Amino acid sequence: MHEFRSVFLDDQAGELVILDQTRLPNDVVYLRLSGTEDVWEAIRNLRVRGAPAIGIAAAYGAYLAVRHGSPESPEAAAALFRQAKRYLETSRPTAVNLFWALNRMEQRLASRYDSVAQLLCALKTEADAIRNEDARMCHAIGEHALSLLRRGWGLLTHCNAGALATSELGTALAPIYLGTQRGYQFKVFVDETRPLLQGARLTAWELSEAGVDVTLICDNMAATVMQRGLVQAVLVGCDRVAANGDTANKIGTLGLAILAKHYGIPFYVLGPTSTIDLNCPSGASIVIEERPGEEITTKWYCSRMAPQDIKTYNPAFDVTDASLITAIITEKGIAYPPFAASLKALPQ
Ligand code: MRU
Repeated sequence: MHEFRSVFLDDQAGELVILDQTRLPNDVVYLRLSGTEDVWEAIRNLRVRGAPAIGIAAAYGAYLAVRHGSPESPEAAAALFRQAKRYLETSRPTAVNLFWALNRMEQRLASRYDSVAQLLCALKTEADAIRNEDARMCHAIGEHALSLLRRGWGLLTHCNAGALATSELGTALAPIYLGTQRGYQFKVFVDETRPLLQGARLTAWELSEAGVDVTLICDNMAATVMQRGLVQAVLVGCDRVAANGDTANKIGTLGLAILAKHYGIPFYVLGPTSTIDLNCPSGASIVIEERPGEEITTKWYCSRMAPQDIKTYNPAFDVTDASLITAIITEKGIAYPPFAASLKALPQ
């Protein structure tokens, strides 16, 4: 469907390859990263972004840290891994997939290895599994979600939870791609998603590349689009879903959920079970990343759009109360309220 790949390993070269999302939609540029600092920088500055893609990048980044550190024993290799893990974990705080993927990699260290080569092989196998499972999960999420949608519907999405944010296909965009292949003729409204414009730069780009009927709107136009009956469902991704269903996603998601409730429009959260954090009781425990105010005043534009030294507040995510969510759609099935019970009951 798409010719691009957001994140993959070139094992021969010993490099993590990412499509630099800060350059889209104008330039399709791949970056080749081998140092852990470079991987950290790429995650921190959203060159690779979206919860699942961050997890995949971090997993490969930790593997490469060990490989390029040329340790002389499995014990030294394990120490290098743990150092890289601790460092990569500081890149972004909200998406749980980052921590989930690195913890999964760390579990590989529990086995005994006779050589560094064996340990490296185990780490690479695990990172590949995280990547390949993500692709399968996205397809399954798409199938489950499509069962809730009807032909010709207008759909609204926010930020980018598409192929760019995952290994392929995406989460919130997966049913749109599958439906498009099957002639559903969805009309998709995309919020531009200030301040970093993931909707305008990324979602509008990848959907139009795939031949989807896309209409870009400013964030403050979502209410009127709903009021006029132009959308029949809202589909969003997620960065962390708490045990009670409260969901952290890109700033602006909460407002959409409140609007959708007001207009009686189903509000669906789509994500892999790796984004569900059952150790997090509610949204109140989710750490919300705060990013530089410069993203509001200047970033992505040639000149400033606000007075010098203006005070800013720039939370990158918000938490949507579980009570506003119609369903949480995972690769293992669809969870309905009350989420405290339905999320736990998803097949293991
Ligand atoms: O700051 P970003 O661009 O990484 O935020 C991404 C989102 O909020 C996505 O909706 C979420 O990670 C799901 S991606 C499948």
